[in-house]
Amino acid sequence: MILVLQPDVDESFLERVRKELMALGCTFSLSRGDEQVIVALGGNFDPDAVYAAAAAWPAVDALNLRSDRYYRNERRKRRFMSWLIIGFGLLTIAALAFPVLNFLRPPDNKLELTGPVRVGSVTGFAEGTARRLRIHGDTVMVVRDHAGRFRAVSGDCTHLDPCQLDWNLERQQLLCPCHGGVFDILGNVVDGPANAPLLRFETAVVKDTLFVNRRR
Ligand code: FES
Repeated sequence: MILVLQPDVDESFLERVRKELMALGCTFSLSRGDEQVIVALGGNFDPDAVYAAAAAWPAVDALNLRSDRYYRNERRKRRFMSWLIIGFGLLTIAALAFPVLNFLRPPDNKLELTGPVRVGSVTGFAEGTARRLRIHGDTVMVVRDHAGRFRAVSGDCTHLDPCQLDWNLERQQLLCPCHGGVFDILGNVVDGPANAPLLRFETAVVKDTLFVNRRR
């Protein structure tokens, strides 16, 4: 805490001020200049008591009743608030940007099956027929053979993408309309230019309901 007094303040007044400040618990350090007299206060004192005493001193030209510690604390507080505001700002930007970036991210080329997919009742599925289905992004040919068993294979030809296979009822085979590729109901290559079998899917019947799942 600092007191600023006029340069022509007399010694008797200074002595009075010194005594009063010492009575309030202050240490007293004085320096004289051409334009002012500076009194630096230290010690463990009550600033409000010094304020009250200084109000009665007419020769005190100006008072600066803030300690260095006060200003240091104020600077710390301001710095802390600045970091707090910057932190909240960055968090807000991240919270707003994440859903936007997530939305703009291109989708995966192939979605994975997450589990068995319910296809429907087996009673409406005639023997020797096939259905083309879309299951989690895959084209799947589900076939019921003449023995009543279900088979499921990819509906996409393995020769060239994206040719889709057709079911041939007479031959009980899958035919590719693009270059004449032929596959059996297990997905094996029977004829044509394709040299890789079709992707197979698992089938299961639970209480007359057919489920299809990706084979792992
Ligand atoms: S794309 Fe199917 S046989 Fe060529």
